[in-house]
Amino acid sequence: MKGILTLSIFLFQAFTLHLVEPASLWETISDRAEIQEENSELTFLFDAIARMFTPHCLRVVMGMEPTIWENWEQPLVSIQLSGEESENTTIFMNKNSEKMSRYSCVTYMMTNLPENNVIDQLTNPKDKIISRFFLSKFDTEREADAFLLDQRLLNEENVATVVAEISRNKSEWKIMRRQLLHPSGYPQIKTVNRWSMAEGFYKKNEIFPEQMANFFGKKLQGVTLDFLPFIDYENIPNSRVVIPKPSLDVYILNVIAKTLNFTYDLVMPADGLWGYLREDGHWVGVVGDVEFRRANFSLCLSVTAERLRSVDFTRVYYIDPLTFVTAKNRPQPAWLKLITPFNDHVWLVTVSSVFAAMVLYYFYNKSEVIMKCTKKHPLTAFMDITGSFLGQALQRMPKLTGGQVSYK
Ligand SMILES: *[C@@H]1O[C@H](CO)[C@@H](O)[C@H](O)[C@H]1NC(C)=O
Ligand SMILES: *[C@@H]1O[C@H](CO)[C@@H](O)[C@H](O)[C@H]1NC(C)=O
Ligand SMILES: *[C@@H]1O[C@H](CO)[C@@H](O)[C@H](O)[C@H]1NC(C)=O
Ligand SMILES: *[C@@H]1O[C@H](CO)[C@@H](O)[C@H](O)[C@H]1NC(C)=O
Repeated sequence: MKGILTLSIFLFQAFTLHLVEPASLWETISDRAEIQEENSELTFLFDAIARMFTPHCLRVVMGMEPTIWENWEQPLVSIQLSGEESENTTIFMNKNSEKMSRYSCVTYMMTNLPENNVIDQLTNPKDKIISRFFLSKFDTEREADAFLLDQRLLNEENVATVVAEISRNKSEWKIMRRQLLHPSGYPQIKTVNRWSMAEGFYKKNEIFPEQMANFFGKKLQGVTLDFLPFIDYENIPNSRVVIPKPSLDVYILNVIAKTLNFTYDLVMPADGLWGYLREDGHWVGVVGDVEFRRANFSLCLSVTAERLRSVDFTRVYYIDPLTFVTAKNRPQPAWLKLITPFNDHVWLVTVSSVFAAMVLYYFYNKSEVIMKCTKKHPLTAFMDITGSFLGQALQRMPKLTGGQVSYK
């Protein structure tokens, strides 16, 4: 009895092993092969996009086995989508991307929609330091649309998606992006290009074009304080909005507004200050209004390392010539002009040697009078010495006696 039971169990196992499992096994193998093929096409596509449109960016691949990207020449960072760990990696990347000095930007390539907390981290505006490009693969256009219009990504300029369109004998990829600024006032989704393994890109269209080239008449708000000759304005009572008056920055701003097709209001900062860096690393005043997006831009600020962490600067249009300063020279009374070139010691030595010379000469004269060599009064010594001190020295004493004789 027991033997029969064992045998039937064995037979049952054999049956299931040989008749059921091979079929399901075959299915999973063919599924895998399809996924493998799609994934290898995707790696070619991502590589092609990165090569053409973001060649100087660090590539960060999110959500797929690293082995599949092996044949890329360029080094890359691979993040698996597993909750906290990937969130931590993303936080680390955001904080340190500035230090990866070889790269001026990052391209995030996602093979699946990352978890919400990872998207939150990736799109955290406070951590945005260098430019970022998002490229994500979706199975359907509907998912791709939802991603492109995600509120959290609206502050990101460079977002695109790829969607596979696989028919029986051909596979093709649609590349979609959004146009953030559109005459309708809402972001629009566009299919900008197509790609297939055999034919490459169908068009030459940029996948990450400059989004801010045309604002379609949007009204922007600029925050500033007056600082002639750069910016001058007239206040409106009880209003932060001001009326700009002709000044250098206003002239420049008008040209930019015309070129980029926007209009603007100028306002004074909410706290009325040019501002300073708070201890928590954020700004108050003009820079704070731009940093916290209470205004779209500001004028007339100099570039500093601290400000660079919070705001983007345009090109420099004015260079401040900086110098050291001293008090201005005051005119001197004329009579001091004789005395000031020499200091006290020089005067002391001069006066005392003149006096000593007078005394010695007086005694010399006196001794000559006593010895009856001359009738000169000894006191003329004082006049002689004073005269020779104030008189101008001879350029050169004559050396030849003959010269002296003929002179006399
Ligand atoms: C992520 O970071 C937090 C805070 O630094 C830490 O407590 C946690 O252990 C990290 N998680 C992983 C998976 O590394
Ligand atoms: C795909 O197959 C259809 C017919 O089944 C054919 O008309 C078409 O040319 C094929 N396309 C390619 C690229 O082979
Ligand atoms: C500027 O924006 C307006 C409003 O959307 C639009 O009608 C106009 O065509 C734009 N100008 C250019 C040069 O694109
Ligand atoms: C301009 O700034 C305001 C907030 O002050 C914001 O709501 C708006 O989206 C900004 N406009 C653009 C085009 O960035």
